[in-house]
Amino acid sequence: MPAIKSVFSLLGLLLFLNHPAMASYTLVYSGNLNGELEPCGCTLEGDLGGIKRQATMIDQLRRQDPDLLLVSSGGLLIAEMPSDRIRSDYILRGMQLLNYDVIGVQARDLAFGTDFLKRYRLPFVLSSAPDESIFAYQKTLRRQSQSFSFFQWSVLPSQVIRKDPATASASAQKQLTEKLAAEKNTGAITVLTTSLRLAAAKKVLPLKYIDILIIPSRRDSFAKPVQIENTLLLQPGARGMRLGLLQFEIKKQANNARISHWQQRVIPLPKSIPDSPRTQAWYAAYNAALKSDYEKQVALRKQREQGKSPYAGAEKCQACHVQEYRKWQQTQHAQAYDDLESVDKNFDPNCVTCHSVGFNQPGGFLNAELTPHLSGVQCESCHGPAQAHIDDGGKTATGNHQWNKKQICGQCHIAIHSPSFNLKTYWPKIAHGQIR
Ligand code: HEC
Ligand code: HEC
Ligand code: HEC
Ligand code: HEC
Repeated sequence: MPAIKSVFSLLGLLLFLNHPAMASYTLVYSGNLNGELEPCGCTLEGDLGGIKRQATMIDQLRRQDPDLLLVSSGGLLIAEMPSDRIRSDYILRGMQLLNYDVIGVQARDLAFGTDFLKRYRLPFVLSSAPDESIFAYQKTLRRQSQSFSFFQWSVLPSQVIRKDPATASASAQKQLTEKLAAEKNTGAITVLTTSLRLAAAKKVLPLKYIDILIIPSRRDSFAKPVQIENTLLLQPGARGMRLGLLQFEIKKQANNARISHWQQRVIPLPKSIPDSPRTQAWYAAYNAALKSDYEKQVALRKQREQGKSPYAGAEKCQACHVQEYRKWQQTQHAQAYDDLESVDKNFDPNCVTCHSVGFNQPGGFLNAELTPHLSGVQCESCHGPAQAHIDDGGKTATGNHQWNKKQICGQCHIAIHSPSFNLKTYWPKIAHGQIR
């Protein structure tokens, strides 16, 4: 509970700092999820975030301040593998549990079409779409007699824009300026989220009518707020790892409202934040859906691949490379599949791919029953298929014999799953063969 406690004391501190005569407001905001429903847990550094922990934290913050404004800049979904449709479905159901007030729509959220998104009845906003019947153009919320108008500007793929893209975007820009100016005239605070970087945002968007501009941070972490003339620039990090909490006051002159004092706190979501019990059924249903899809895919692939596999499995290498085999057995690579099993994720294709041999390749790993000899990170995960190499006593080179170490390790030791990877420190732990 230490993280929750620190939020308590944070709120106390902020209330204390506030000018007593002025009303204060709270904006909780998050950046792109990029398909990350939960942290993978591959390393401690990466074990932050996830919808289950977000739910706990958001409930906690709402109990403290029922009036808080909760905004997501969108960028929720991912569409790289067939199973990503299931993940995207559950991300959107998860967003329903989180009760965001406003969610921006980015181009990547349209990967499965606009109808896919509409089904969830989430508070989506899209101000650069040509057709307001698809998503709300803007959303206005009131807090303590102050109104807040939310907009989202996204660069959309041309098939979404029905007219000529160039003229469509010019007229959309003009419309946005008019709508923002009109909102400012009513005394509203305007908040605009976009996936544009600052330089592009300055060119395209009328900053003088935008009180709070939310653009993506260059990293997974949040940047400090920056004041640019009358606009406060917020830069949330990605992957749902943290939440930004901005407390601010509003100065009113005639009909013009402006942000005055503000203070930001970034809330990380480490393992110490318990999963919300509200998300239990949702999470169980997600895993069940993944598991049944996985089993279906395995059965299909088994049917398709009746031929001989180009992969042999590490046991077969032993006969001629006993030193290498013994060394490998002692490394964590040999345990990689067991470790996946122990966190109960051995049916998630997004995980199995790096924790087995030749997953998604013809003749590669299917599951622990059908292909037990290909589980874990083995010789052929790095050296490539080697059945042909075995068949002629080593004359045929292994599949990846022309790859260098960087290419070999880079298949799996990528930043999001292995942030502290460094060839100089990692290779010695698994070194074998002629050590170079
Ligand atoms: C029947 C014996 C035999 C078996 C079984 C065998 N190898 Fe080899 N392997 C050799 C010989 C002999 C060489 C040396 C070839 C050379 O230097 O020209 C070799 C060389 C290699 C090399 C270095 C050259 C290259 O092709 O990249 C790698 C890596 C290798 N083996 C991996 C494996 C793996 C992985 C397995 C198990 C899937 C395996 N070997 C099974 C005999 C075998
Ligand atoms: C792109 C490849 C890749 C994917 C995809 C991947 N992992 Fe990993 N995983 C790794 C690597 C690399 C490590 C070792 C990280 C390190 O120590 O630097 C690792 C380590 C782990 C560990 C061991 C942690 C420990 O305490 O030793 C677990 C458990 C794990 N991953 C689970 C998962 C789960 C669950 C998923 C899917 C949500 C997943 N992995 C997806 C590459 C991947
Ligand atoms: C994590 C990746 C990885 C795993 C797992 C792995 N190797 Fe290697 N292996 C390498 C790399 C990288 C080299 C060094 C290649 C170089 O120096 O360019 C190497 C070198 C070798 C060599 C010496 C090649 C030569 O030309 O000197 C042999 C033989 C070999 N491995 C066999 C095996 C066998 C057998 C296994 C399984 C029991 C295995 N390796 C597991 C990555 C791996
Ligand atoms: C097919 C994916 C894959 C490839 C390729 C791969 N690794 Fe790994 N590596 C993993 C996974 C998964 C783990 C975590 C295993 C576990 O603990 O469950 C891991 C763990 C490790 C660890 C243990 C980390 C620790 O903290 O002790 C080292 C060291 C390592 N890898 C080095 C390498 C090097 C060097 C290469 C390239 C020569 C390489 N790996 C290639 C997937 C891979």
